[in-house]
Amino acid sequence: MSASLLADLRSDTVTRPSPAMRRAMAEAEVGDACFGDDPTVLRLEATVAERLGKDAAIFVPTGTMSNQIGVAVHTRPGDAALIDAGAHIARWEAAGAAALSGVQLIAIEGPRGLPTTAQLEAARPPDHPKAARLSLLALEDTHNSAGGLAHDARALDERASWAHQRGLGVHLDGARLFNAATFTGDPVERLAARCDTVSLCLSKGLGAPVGSVLSGPRELIALADRFRHRFGGGWRQGGILAAAGLHALEHHTAHLAQDHARAALLAAALLRSGVAAATHPVETNLVCYRVDPDFGTAAEHAARLAARGVLVAATGPDTGRLVTHRDLDDASVAHAATVLADP
Ligand SMILES: Cc1ncc(COP(=O)(O)O)c(C=O)c1O
Repeated sequence: MSASLLADLRSDTVTRPSPAMRRAMAEAEVGDACFGDDPTVLRLEATVAERLGKDAAIFVPTGTMSNQIGVAVHTRPGDAALIDAGAHIARWEAAGAAALSGVQLIAIEGPRGLPTTAQLEAARPPDHPKAARLSLLALEDTHNSAGGLAHDARALDERASWAHQRGLGVHLDGARLFNAATFTGDPVERLAARCDTVSLCLSKGLGAPVGSVLSGPRELIALADRFRHRFGGGWRQGGILAAAGLHALEHHTAHLAQDHARAALLAAALLRSGVAAATHPVETNLVCYRVDPDFGTAAEHAARLAARGVLVAATGPDTGRLVTHRDLDDASVAHAATVLADP
């Protein structure tokens, strides 16, 4: 972070690799992953599969690719998938499900970003030749657009059981699954248990520069490997990046509780300002908020904060988002709280 920039709260993806992470990257043993002989990539894949209680996993460059491979392995062109309307797959992946897999997303406004089984049942296309074949339920935990709300294992299990009883596959976008585990107290393996494929991002709160891992049953991950190549995600000496992911898994999960506490503190400062207030309860490291139009647009609010060294994201005319992460320290959080409380 440059000296003039005091708190970058635009996303938890802005973190830089720590010196220890850079050392792990520099020292990584590598090979050609497309020949299956990069030992560090293989170790990361095995580690994530084991942490999430799955048979196998593949390392890919982004959460978007991981999700899109997840959609692809559960579906055929012309199929439909049920999903929350605000889910990353539905809103922020450039219509990838339609463009790459030929899948029609049936978007449902779920409470807290998680459709109820009654909503799923009502949205389910009929088993009829004129209707799309339904093959997938996609879930997200924590839910980005729903302000980082966390779903516990019981809630995920209920939706997954509903889907499995109807012969659907279940994909979980767990970009911030460790944040969900930190908030709910359910271990990541427990959250993942009833979901067939799980996408985990290393580049968000865990602080790696790049990378996501898709895990699941052996046969689906073998198919996923084919899509990884089709989508251009085959690594060569990917071990340099996998080493960052392994370092993050080993050293960067414990601080997430502090990120969550800091997000709550910043949300309270925002509320004190009388200018903006969180739109969702603050459970994890994301604060989505609405700016009172009497005080200008969200972009104007963000510009006033930026002039004082606090960067946030304006996400709409009157909405914004701030995110805590491991590159903040007590001083930058205190400064951000002061500025947010009196913008
Ligand atoms: C919930 C969720 N899923 C997937 C992604 C996509 O990750 P990436 O930016 O690595 O493609 C993001 C990115 O912010 C996200 O928030």
